[in-house]
Amino acid sequence: MTVNTATPQTVQRFARLDERLEAVLALLNSGTHADIGSDHAKLPLRLIQSGRARRCIVVELNPGPLALARRNVARAGLTDHIEIRAGDGFAPLHPGEADSASITGMGAGTIAGILRRAEARWAETGVLPPTLVLQPNDNPAPIRVWAQESGYHLTDERLIDGYWPYPVLRLLRHPGPDSAYRGLPHAAALRYGPHLLREAGPLLAARIRADVLRLTPLAAPGRTAQLELDAAQDALQIIERLAGK
Ligand SMILES: C[S@@+](CC[C@H](N)C(=O)[O-])C[C@H]1O[C@@H](n2cnc3c(N)ncnc32)[C@H](O)[C@@H]1O
Repeated sequence: MTVNTATPQTVQRFARLDERLEAVLALLNSGTHADIGSDHAKLPLRLIQSGRARRCIVVELNPGPLALARRNVARAGLTDHIEIRAGDGFAPLHPGEADSASITGMGAGTIAGILRRAEARWAETGVLPPTLVLQPNDNPAPIRVWAQESGYHLTDERLIDGYWPYPVLRLLRHPGPDSAYRGLPHAAALRYGPHLLREAGPLLAARIRADVLRLTPLAAPGRTAQLELDAAQDALQIIERLAGK
């Protein structure tokens, strides 16, 4: 069958993704891509339709979303290009099978758990894909910690306005310490993102100021809120310095 690849005319015909999945799409360019926890399979559909991936593997844990993914892929006529597999995280993949993977729309702890289970399972036989694009719905620090421990560098970060600010992280497997964190206070960089801090955009600035306001009445020596407030104040200093205030 013929795959619809991207031209300005054809792209118009495909339904646009929401802003956070558009941001994920823009950070991918792959041979074989795996979308873990795909649900509706909208991202893999657009990856194929836009020519950003040659082949996709959809992984879904739950029967309802699995059926939805099958239906949407069949309706789009892309069953030759998008394979759908039932299972938990990376378990249905063979080691080295995918060049890239995405996990989006879940909590950062859940995403980090999926990555840790895959590492443990494949400790001797294989590795995770070299490129990962991850979009947690909450504080991405557990993912940045995982990446530092697991030999992935943060090569790009976006903060997308939506129901709340959605972080999007692009990780690339690379040896050695990640230079993105160099010269930044560690807790602030883990919480808010080294690239995002250097960019000092208005959405991040609003997020940090809201955190300072929320945490100030809760903070006291020895409390977690105090550590979080310290990180938020460090982050605020960085972005205000960059903004020349
Ligand atoms: C909130 S939806 C996000 C869907 C889509 N990725 C998006 O961003 O719009 C999360 C999906 O992940 C699936 N899921 C959760 N844990 C999973 C796991 N360990 N392995 C595979 N799928 C999982 C759920 O069944 C659900 O369909």
